[in-house]
Amino acid sequence: MFAVTAQSFSTDDPLSGLVLGERPDPEVPDGWTTVTVKAASLNHHDLWSLRGVGLKEDALPMILGCDAAGHDEDGNEVVVHAVVSSPDWTGDETLDPRRSLLSERYQGTFAERVAVPRRNVVPKPPSLSFEEAACLPTAWLTAYRMLFTQGGLKSGDTVLVQGAGGGVATALISLARAGGLRVLATSRDESKRAKALELGAHDVFESGERLPAKVDAVMETVGRATWAHSIRSLRPGGRIVISGTTSGPKLDDAMLTNIFFLQLSVIGSTMGTRDELAALATMLDATGVRPLLDRTLPMQQARDGFAALADGDVFGKIVFTL
Ligand SMILES: NC(=O)c1ccc[n+]([C@@H]2O[C@H](COP(=O)([O-])OP(=O)(O)OC[C@H]3O[C@@H](n4cnc5c(N)ncnc54)[C@H](OP(=O)(O)O)[C@@H]3O)[C@@H](O)[C@H]2O)c1
Repeated sequence: MFAVTAQSFSTDDPLSGLVLGERPDPEVPDGWTTVTVKAASLNHHDLWSLRGVGLKEDALPMILGCDAAGHDEDGNEVVVHAVVSSPDWTGDETLDPRRSLLSERYQGTFAERVAVPRRNVVPKPPSLSFEEAACLPTAWLTAYRMLFTQGGLKSGDTVLVQGAGGGVATALISLARAGGLRVLATSRDESKRAKALELGAHDVFESGERLPAKVDAVMETVGRATWAHSIRSLRPGGRIVISGTTSGPKLDDAMLTNIFFLQLSVIGSTMGTRDELAALATMLDATGVRPLLDRTLPMQQARDGFAALADGDVFGKIVFTL
């Protein structure tokens, strides 16, 4: 079958390890099923994989991709849940210390077919296209859990979303708006700030710009470049929910004094549960909110999508179709 794989790692030139071509059909262990992929979306995670982050050398070649929508073995339209927990794990699978994401231990979704545990298949609402549904399992699920589970946000709260152009960030803006929050967003880029407004942000700011009022919570995926601004933007007792560090994880100053003196909470968030993915699909069906697609490409042109993400030349999700 056709697949997009990581063959080697490079920190400086991640695309050098990207190989498009034929791979064997997936092995299907007991209790697993095969999904025929119609659409799969690209995440920053796939670039990290090509840099050797979260992926071991002895796992190569590895088919990349965490997210997919397609048909199950009975022809039903489904969305694939990307978090694979241990067979005996019960409860919140994001807390399983042995969990992995598709494309880390098990072959990923950038292929004609992908094998997943049976419980990792969620019905796709008919109102969502395959391309839209393929955006849900990583970026949109992460955003959903950040806002409504880890962030505990409710309608009427005010939230700041850092780095408006990102896949997770655009999902945060859309979902926060649909959930009745006041939404502020930052971006380094003027055109991305304009698009964030179109997407539903009430107000937009340059990265690092002082806000007119403090917010209840900040959604962080940028890390080093925006951390100080995130801390300074919170009201006393406010929360930072962090799920990524695109600009780097190391801080010169973690601003610990501000954190204890203003009684701020710093809350980590990773992916989401199968139940949250099902709830997210229902929320999109009910509200009419849809993932913003930056571009849709045939999977045979996946290299162009990876290059655009590596250049930061993206607003919304890049989706590959088969
Ligand atoms: N924990 C989880 O479960 C989970 C799940 C999904 C993603 N993630 C992580 O979340 C992060 C975002 O993922 P993504 O797929 O949304 O990535 P992305 O689409 O590449 O978005 C990254 C955004 O970060 C902003 N940014 C990057 N460098 C910056 C800098 N130096 N200064 C200010 N802003 C900067 C940019 O916003 P502007 O250009 O608008 O300023 C960019 O659009 C990644 O680190 C990813 O690994 C984690």
